[in-house]
Order: sequence, then C-alpha cells, then structure tokens
Amino acid sequence: MSVERINVELGDRSYPIHIGQGVLSNAYSYLEPHLVGRRVCILTDETIASLHLQTLLSALEGQGLRIETIIIPPGEREKSFERLQTVLGQLLDANFSRADTLIALGGGVIGDLTGFTASILKRGCNFVQIPTTLLAQVDSSVGGKTAINTPAGKNLVGCFYQPKLVLADTDVLATLPVRELKAGYGEVLKYGLIDKPDFFDWLEAHGADVLAGDPEALAQAVSICCQAKATIVKEDEFEHGRRALLNLGHSFGHALEGLAGFDGSVLHGEAVSAGMLMAYEYSQSLGLCSGQDVERVRAHLLALGLENLETLPEIVRADPDALFAYMMRDKKNKDEDLALILAKGIGQAYVEPQADQASVRAYVHAVCEAR
Ligand code: NAD
Ligand code: GLY
Repeated sequence: MSVERINVELGDRSYPIHIGQGVLSNAYSYLEPHLVGRRVCILTDETIASLHLQTLLSALEGQGLRIETIIIPPGEREKSFERLQTVLGQLLDANFSRADTLIALGGGVIGDLTGFTASILKRGCNFVQIPTTLLAQVDSSVGGKTAINTPAGKNLVGCFYQPKLVLADTDVLATLPVRELKAGYGEVLKYGLIDKPDFFDWLEAHGADVLAGDPEALAQAVSICCQAKATIVKEDEFEHGRRALLNLGHSFGHALEGLAGFDGSVLHGEAVSAGMLMAYEYSQSLGLCSGQDVERVRAHLLALGLENLETLPEIVRADPDALFAYMMRDKKNKDEDLALILAKGIGQAYVEPQADQASVRAYVHAVCEAR
C-alpha cells in the first residue's frame, strides 16, 4: 500500500500529512526537510515508549542528530499545568533552542501537551506530530489546536500552533487496545455526521473493518478524515466559524468527560460518541432532524459497540444541573450564550451560536433521569 500525502494549506504555515504503513521506520526521510537545528527531543508516554519509541530512534540514528527523549506517564491527567511546567523545565535546563525540534510521539494527550509546550518554549520551537492513536491520526495531530486541562474544565488553556509535519503510520495502530480504537472511531464517525453522508454510508458498511484493524480500511478512514479536517482548517484556522463543526458532540461530551473526572473511566472519544448521539437527539426534539436519522446514528453506535449515554458510568448522569453548568463553560460560548453544533440530518451539521438554554437543560434532565 502506498503512502498518501495530504497537504494542510495554510500559506507559510502549510504542512504535509503522510499516511500509511511503515512511515515511522522511514521517519528521517520525511523529517529531514523540516529540521532547522540538528537537535531533536521526542516527548512520549511510558506505554508508547515501550512499543514504538525504538522504531523512531532507529529511524533517526546515524543521521547526525542529537536525540533526547522525555517519557511521561500515560493518561489525560498529564495534560496539566504541573506536567507542562516540568517538561518546560527539562527543556530549558537542557538549553533546547527555538531551532530544535520537539516531536510528539503519541495520542492526543501527548500531542496537545507537546504542541502547547512547543508553542511557548522560547516563544515557539520547531514541532512535529507523530500520532499513534486512531483519534490522534484522524483529528488531534492535524489543525494546530494545543491545550492542557485545568480544574475549571477541559482544554481551557492552550493556543493554535501548527506542526511542521504529521506522520501517521497506520501500522502502529495494531498495538492500540480495542477500547482506544473504538474511542478514536468516535472522531472518525464525526466527519460523516458533520458533512459527509457518503462517508457515513461507507462507515455503515466498513466501520467494523476499521475496528478490526484492517489495514486498507484504516488507511482509507484516516485519509478521508485528514482530508476533511485539512479542508475545514484551511477555511477557518482559528475557529471564527465553520471549524466549530468539528466540535459536534463535544459540548455534551466534554461535560460527560469532566463529570467523570478525567480518571480514564470515560475516554474523550467515548464521550464524543455519546455526545454526538445527544446532539442528534436534541436536534430531533427541536424538529430539526428526523427520528430515522437519530435511529441510524444510534444503531451504528450499537452495532460497533460504541458508547452512548446509557453505557457510560452512572456518575455522568447523576447531576444534570452540573452537566448543563459544564456545558455553559464551553470555549465556543460567547457572552452568556450557549453555542451548540446541531444537525438537520446525517451529514448536515451546523453551528447554533445561541441554543435555547431552557430546552437544552430540559433535554439534559430528561435523558439523565430516564437512564
Ligand atoms: P491518549 O493520548 O490518552 O492515548 C490513549 C492511550 O493509548 C494512552 O494510554 C496511550 O499510552 C495509549 N497508546 C497510544 N498509542 C498507542 C499505541 N499505538 N499502542 C498502544 N497504546 C497506545 O488518548 P487519545 O484518545 O489519543 O487523545 C485524547 C486527547 O486528545 C484528549 O485530551 C482530547 O482532548 C485531545 N484531542 C485534541 C484534539 C485537537 O484538535 N488538538 C482533537 C481531539 C482530541
Ligand atoms: N478537534 C477539533 C478541532 O480541531 O477543531
């Protein structure tokens, strides 16, 4: 299978995404044109380091590079001020320079933390994404959103900082636990539901192959999603409008994740799957989309064993007022308004900047109390 190249067109901040098998073991050939200095630091977590770091190190060795690694524990809780400070301290102590390259080798947690670190280290150093989860390959490694979490909520501190290169090696997904693969699939499905009804049809036929790790199906899904994301990011890099569509299901989802406490009991992608169904259900309650559309989404989640509100831990349904209050702190909101991504059908999502708060609150109460 050949390696596909997709360009994210952002003027002088444009960059390529290379997708396919064996990309990691050829990393130097992709990286070389994007190096400024000859020093590289790979930031990764313990799990990924034990599985894939050696392949990357072997690919970079013997090329005259000075290579360092920072290995942190896995998990969402690492997207914190404390970890950011520790990593920055390590890089500054080592006199890492702006011309040096910080490589994120990992999932969205590593990518978001590394990207934010790169953006503020000496006002911005060279930065490359090597995503190792399905979620990171189809979403978080592309588009330049970086962030850490705070006690006030998820991803509330961060910035836009584009990588110079994204290397998505679909082979590395073979070691991903099924639960993580399914969580990432939530973000895959998102693109079909936003504006690609044909892709949703394709997923109904081939989603099981993606989750079974079929190399062709995985590469096709990653490629379609990256192309979709590149198109939206090109149109609206800083999320003044259309890019907010990529947040379908996330206002509900971030709240579900937040109430669960970022302890691994609810993964980001699981919350997104459940949140997208909620967005469709709520849209139906307003008469925006049909019951058949909602049932199609629900049936797809059930067929593939993806999460919905009913299957998530009880804690996310225990306090509907807290869930609603969490949604009111979402980054998309302006003034006192609640912004939501709603849908008029499969592949017909749109941004509603002023959702009716009373009916959203009533919907949240109804679904939490019914389940
Ligand atoms: P993650 O980064 O926590 O990775 C999931 C788990 O899989 C970790 O335990 C990790 O060690 C392990 N892992 C990673 N790659 C592996 C591999 N190849 N084999 C075996 N194990 C592997 O989770 P995620 O789902 O990748 O990312 C979620 C994060 O991404 C959230 O913080 C979310 O907010 C963020 N996100 C950001 C954006 C963005 O645009 N920046 C978009 C979507 C999500
Ligand atoms: N994951 C949402 C975005 O990149 O905009």
